[in-house]
Amino acid sequence: MQTIVTTSHKPDPRSMEIAMWAAEQLKSEFVERRRMSLNDLKIINNAENIIVVANSELKLYSSHGIYFFHPSMSVPRIKAIKQGKSDHMIEAMSVHPGDRVLDCTLGLGSDAIVASFVSGPEGQVTGIEATSEIALIVKHGLGNYNSESHSLKSAMERIQVKCALYEHYLTEIPERSYDIVYFDPMFRQPRMRSSSMEPLRGIVKHDPLSPEAVKEAVRVARKRVVMKENSFSKEFARLGFSKVIGGRYSPVAFGVIEKEAEI
Ligand SMILES: C[S@@+](CC[C@H](N)C(=O)[O-])C[C@H]1O[C@@H](n2cnc3c(N)ncnc32)[C@H](O)[C@@H]1O
Repeated sequence: MQTIVTTSHKPDPRSMEIAMWAAEQLKSEFVERRRMSLNDLKIINNAENIIVVANSELKLYSSHGIYFFHPSMSVPRIKAIKQGKSDHMIEAMSVHPGDRVLDCTLGLGSDAIVASFVSGPEGQVTGIEATSEIALIVKHGLGNYNSESHSLKSAMERIQVKCALYEHYLTEIPERSYDIVYFDPMFRQPRMRSSSMEPLRGIVKHDPLSPEAVKEAVRVARKRVVMKENSFSKEFARLGFSKVIGGRYSPVAFGVIEKEAEI
């Protein structure tokens, strides 16, 4: 599936620079806009997706819709945490300031932002994403998002994004490299059409989590491995997540494999 990169009709120099960088990162073609419509560019270049850089922002136009980086639900979740409310993911992960968190399925980055906010400046969140277009847009967004909230902005900036398969990344790092390893794979039975993921439906990786990957995650984690899934998913039992945490009425839950009791 081919993705090309272009700009708006009258790009400023910074957008041009970003477009060149994006094409290089994706090892894809940069195509001059030349007053053409996106549809014409797609047809001429036999492309399925186009990334358009405008006002220094990257937007992916796919046949399923338009995606651009936004911290989305991480904003109200962080606000709630600041007010002392609990967050099921943070509770399941048991994130503390200074923790190193490996998010194996970065996606749009919302969960990673919340984990980064809680692990704080002494902590470290690494996000792994298989799809290069998503990794690129989220990496650029995390580093360049304008927010008046210093804590949100620095939580985003601290996240390290790696475009890789978690199956590979996990096997290459030493045991106990991270405190917490987290998975949020595409649900086996999609709960509903998530509006934010919808434009990416054609390019995200949908494969189920394997017992081998969970075993590697247990090796790499110092404290726990956590997986998000539908509340009634059979994935928890299949993959050995014996403890499941979630709100009574919440459609999603978090499976936990604990490595050692915390002191
Ligand atoms: C449901 S989304 C994660 C959403 C994310 N937790 C958030 O807050 O936005 C799952 C993501 O994991 C990625 N993914 C699936 N399998 C992967 C793998 N083997 N290695 C790396 N990323 C993978 C998908 O491409 C997708 O972007």
